[in-house]
Amino acid sequence: MKTWKGIILAGGNGSRLFPLTHVVNKHLLPIYDKPMIYYPLTTLMLGGVRDYIVISSPGAIEQIKALLGDGSRWGIDIVFRAQERAGGIAECFGIAANDIAGCNVAVALGDNIFYGAGMPRLLSQAMSHERGATIFGYEVSDPSAYGVVILDDNGKPVEIEEKPKVIRSRLAVPGLYFYDEDAVRFARELRPSARGELEITDVNRRYLAAGNLRVTQFGRGVAWLDGGTHQDLYEASQFIKVIEERTGLKVACPEEVAWRMKFIDDAAFESLIDPNPVTDYQRYLRSISETSRRAR
Ligand code: DAU
Repeated sequence: MKTWKGIILAGGNGSRLFPLTHVVNKHLLPIYDKPMIYYPLTTLMLGGVRDYIVISSPGAIEQIKALLGDGSRWGIDIVFRAQERAGGIAECFGIAANDIAGCNVAVALGDNIFYGAGMPRLLSQAMSHERGATIFGYEVSDPSAYGVVILDDNGKPVEIEEKPKVIRSRLAVPGLYFYDEDAVRFARELRPSARGELEITDVNRRYLAAGNLRVTQFGRGVAWLDGGTHQDLYEASQFIKVIEERTGLKVACPEEVAWRMKFIDDAAFESLIDPNPVTDYQRYLRSISETSRRAR
């Protein structure tokens, strides 16, 4: 069985979010009640990933480290690597090459949010393949801001384009990708695109050309949001607020996910909870711990 490592991309300039990102890295901004980076992190945790490489700009790494630490309190391992300038998502394979040597890798973009009961199954399905790559397709009304995949009549991918000007498919490719070891080699062979970046879409194209790319479509049960613009941030926060209030459960709470995934035991989980909680977040952790203790 191949080991899967997780890469979380939390670099970039966040220029579309100025002035919010003038001094704060985008991935530390709130999505309702939690920092944005908790969402992609917990997505990969739900897939069972225990080892992470978080990549960010040199100026932001210390702040992100201060938030996440080394991951040990959540039963995971996190190392941090710097990306000198925002040279594109596919740079992550070169930056993390030593960390991921001999492993498969799940790459999550730090501003992508996934929600839905179907997610854990989709993740474990993607990670059950030791060879090739798995990406997802998500139907959107305007795919022009995304990578887009074109399928043939049998649902097989035939082409992938980054930010298409002419719309030939509404299937956007979300920022969650699963690769075997070839990704490092494919990324090494890339040249910067017209916008000066090493494109993740070009890595996916290599897999497609090699006949090794799987595309799984997200069904209705999965919501995909991102936090790239002010409107996205606002809408994602509203979405999380409504879901959390209606279900009484928090989305993307690393303490809870670590405990439910059995990365930490009951005692370790309880040690993370303030005995006299004053915040909603701590009160939530206390309440789920008490409910489970009563059920035991
Ligand atoms: O959101 C999904 C889309 O993300 C995909 O459909 C596209 O194929 C993919 O290229 C990407 O498009 P964006 O234009 O939205 O990428 P953006 O530059 O906004 O960066 C996405 C995340 O990756 C963001 O959290 C910042 C981080 N990033 C980005 C770049 C370019 C880095 O950490 N380093 C980078 O060099």
